[in-house]
Amino acid sequence: MLELLPAPPADPLWDLAAAYAADPRPERLNLVLGVYRDHTGATPVMAAVREAEIRLAERSASKEYRGLSGNTAFNRAMLTMVLGGSDGTDGPAGRATAVQTVAGTGALRLLADLIRVTRPGTTVWISDPAYVNHRPILEAAGLTVRTYAWPGMLDDLRAARRDDVVLLQGCCHNPTGVDPSPETWEALADLACRNGWMPFVDLAYHGLGDGLEADLWATRMLAARVPEMLIAVSCSKNFGLYSDRTGCAVVLGPSRTALRHVETALQNAARTLYSMPPEHGAAVVTTILEDDGLRAAWRAELDVMRGRITANRADLTAHLGALGREDEALALARQKGMFSTLPLGPEQMRRLRDEFAVYGTTSGRINIAGIPAHRIPCLARGIAAVLEQPYAVAG
Ligand SMILES: Cc1ncc(COP(=O)(O)O)c(C=O)c1O
Repeated sequence: MLELLPAPPADPLWDLAAAYAADPRPERLNLVLGVYRDHTGATPVMAAVREAEIRLAERSASKEYRGLSGNTAFNRAMLTMVLGGSDGTDGPAGRATAVQTVAGTGALRLLADLIRVTRPGTTVWISDPAYVNHRPILEAAGLTVRTYAWPGMLDDLRAARRDDVVLLQGCCHNPTGVDPSPETWEALADLACRNGWMPFVDLAYHGLGDGLEADLWATRMLAARVPEMLIAVSCSKNFGLYSDRTGCAVVLGPSRTALRHVETALQNAARTLYSMPPEHGAAVVTTILEDDGLRAAWRAELDVMRGRITANRADLTAHLGALGREDEALALARQKGMFSTLPLGPEQMRRLRDEFAVYGTTSGRINIAGIPAHRIPCLARGIAAVLEQPYAVAG
């Protein structure tokens, strides 16, 4: 029976990552996946994470099953971090509920399931371009997907109606690196309040754009203004817990009472997908956030990571400018976070790969955090070279 399965489409990002792994050139540069790398090219375990892991190992807590909502102390800590306040009960956090998930992806899927069970057939608007997994996750949950332009989304979103949901990335937009201005975020909140659609915020890169508080500003502003909102939170990037699959689904309503069935609906969705989320990453994050010293150490490390990303972007911008590509340099300088989208088509990205051993996605996205500093001049030369010759040479 299984041999009857037609070839399914392979994931384009993991296909490129496999091509990179098979590339024998020693100078090959992997800028495909959204993973932070230090100046040596390694993805480090943060010192605060290592310290929390040592404390957890010494404590050696039981590995008995946790509840369907996962680690409840973690959920409280996430509510406080994302929505502000002191203990997850005051301000907007006081009218929110949170469930631990299998990373940001699990949060997106659980919240998509919540939308479906609440109102089947709901239309969810996603940005164009979008994070590659947004449409597949929403469609797998049986939702209808429409797109709005990014940036410059306000015109399209005037067509979003009451009962629609609008998926927005809270900061450091993947793939473009372009975020709305504070005025545009306020206009989005006005539109949501006036037309009655619900914001669904995806938070994956907070702390890696302008700083943790600044990166959470738009999410908190929306939370203070709209009656209902969904938030998918990932701890993969800002705690470096990629493979520990740590995240949280947050739902904000008019009051805790109004949300009384929401946690059960999220638990039911988790029960049929994976039952309950893995404990380790959530225990690490909780250990860090509940300890003043560890929390400060983590924040300082996050700032260093952000500083390296910002410095890489500035350096690439300067080198592109020096090579006469001022317009492209200016566009790059305005972007934020781990990613940038270069003004290069699939053929130019292929040339970058073949001639300069630089692997980005076919849509032109590169991981700014993945470039070792000494490779930036070479990357700039490669980008400038393929920009000089925009069309494929015959043969
Ligand atoms: C915009 C966005 N959302 C969500 C995720 C999901 O991250 P994870 O499931 O690894 O936490 C990612 C990962 O790259 C992302 O870029």
